[in-house]
Amino acid sequence: MEYLHIKGKQKIKGEIRVNGAKNAAVAILPAALLTEGVVKIDNLPRITDIDKLVDILNALGAKVSSSEERCLYIDSSGVDNFSPPPSLVNKFRASYYLMGVLLGRFGKVAIPMPGGCNLGPRPIDQHIKGFTALGAKVELEHGIVKIKAKKLRGAHIYLDVVSVGATINIMLAAVRAEGKTIIENAAKEPEIVDVANFLNAMGAQVIGTGTDVIKIQGVPELGQAEHTIIPDRIEAGTFMIATAATRGEALVTEVIPKHLDPIIAKLKEVGAYLEVGPDWVKVKGNNVLFPADVKTFPYPGFPTDLQAPMMVLLTQAPGISFITENVFEGRFRHVDELKKMGARIKLGGRTAIIEGGYELVSAPVRAMDLRGGAAFIIAGLISRGETVLAGVEHIDRGYEFIEERLKQLGVNVERKIISDEVFPGK
Ligand code: EPZ
Repeated sequence: MEYLHIKGKQKIKGEIRVNGAKNAAVAILPAALLTEGVVKIDNLPRITDIDKLVDILNALGAKVSSSEERCLYIDSSGVDNFSPPPSLVNKFRASYYLMGVLLGRFGKVAIPMPGGCNLGPRPIDQHIKGFTALGAKVELEHGIVKIKAKKLRGAHIYLDVVSVGATINIMLAAVRAEGKTIIENAAKEPEIVDVANFLNAMGAQVIGTGTDVIKIQGVPELGQAEHTIIPDRIEAGTFMIATAATRGEALVTEVIPKHLDPIIAKLKEVGAYLEVGPDWVKVKGNNVLFPADVKTFPYPGFPTDLQAPMMVLLTQAPGISFITENVFEGRFRHVDELKKMGARIKLGGRTAIIEGGYELVSAPVRAMDLRGGAAFIIAGLISRGETVLAGVEHIDRGYEFIEERLKQLGVNVERKIISDEVFPGK
């Protein structure tokens, strides 16, 4: 088994270029199936979710080639299969985007219910509501979602829940539907805008992404396109929070500062020093930190994906802080593990109450999801002693070669293979 060994009392000091956004890339790669043309996608992060998606595209009959790192050419003209292999699909939640694209391209898809991080219940009822509104028939048989439509027709869809996945998935199915689709109460995340920019580069007609009303005029076919993925605001935010927590100093480059507004505002509130340039952010930690009240909300609110890293930072701010998780039920699975490191946190429903202002102590801990894993790395960097972190596969899903990236930031995290018996933190 692979573990990360994280020496404590380290300070981040360095410069790092942010990678392409995972949550845009995992939708844009499947979207390449919507066209019979060849597409070029650049600035892809080198993470395992992308590797899995490439395997799925190949299994469906697409030709995927790469002339340089982070860049793929995808030719979906030969795709004739609409049942992705369950063994590949089960491994991560973003596989649900294959529903929208295979339905949009072929009018049918059969795919297992999506897997993914355990952040509490993660239904897809809003995705299905959209597909049904577009004229598809949806059945669930033995865990396989079967969706069929003789003809997809534009519809006026009002989402009951602000959902990134449902907004994107319905958009993917609607771009080749006959007529006009309106998605109301749509999510406004920057990744959704990036997906729409890619679709429009192929000849789709999507307007309004980034607002809560998206309009899509269906087109009979799509062509070729080139696209560069936007920077990952969550990876950037993770490094910014880690810098503040270690009282270090970092220059985070190739970002879109606007996308980082909620994180910049909250870090300033907690006492970190920030300087913002046109495509970079400089973060300097401060020995004196202040407690804060963090509420996660869909964009442009504070991102739920930075809730766990922020919790670690707030353990260092003397006083009482609050984190309210308004997006996912059950996204507090990292709390018990942080308590093993001495964190003083009480949970009440959707709110965590954090008493801050003390030293964390290293302990063997296990990541159960991607962002919880990132939080434990930050906790390990600031604690006394050496932390052994299991569940590295979760981190590799969204953070590229994390130990190498942290080395660029001047901190030493080692990936070691040891037998499972040795890990006391089962
Ligand atoms: C996307 O997940 C991201 N994943 C998540 O990032 C992110 O945390 C989340 O959006 C919120 O920003 C990808 O983009 C691959 P949602 P998604 O649909 O689409 C409820 C990471 O670490 N809901 O916006 O699954 C749902 O239960 C990951 O990078 C329904 O009720 O999130 C949740 O409470 C973790 N019915 C809320 O909406 C539905 O049909 C928001 O979920 C769909 C969602």
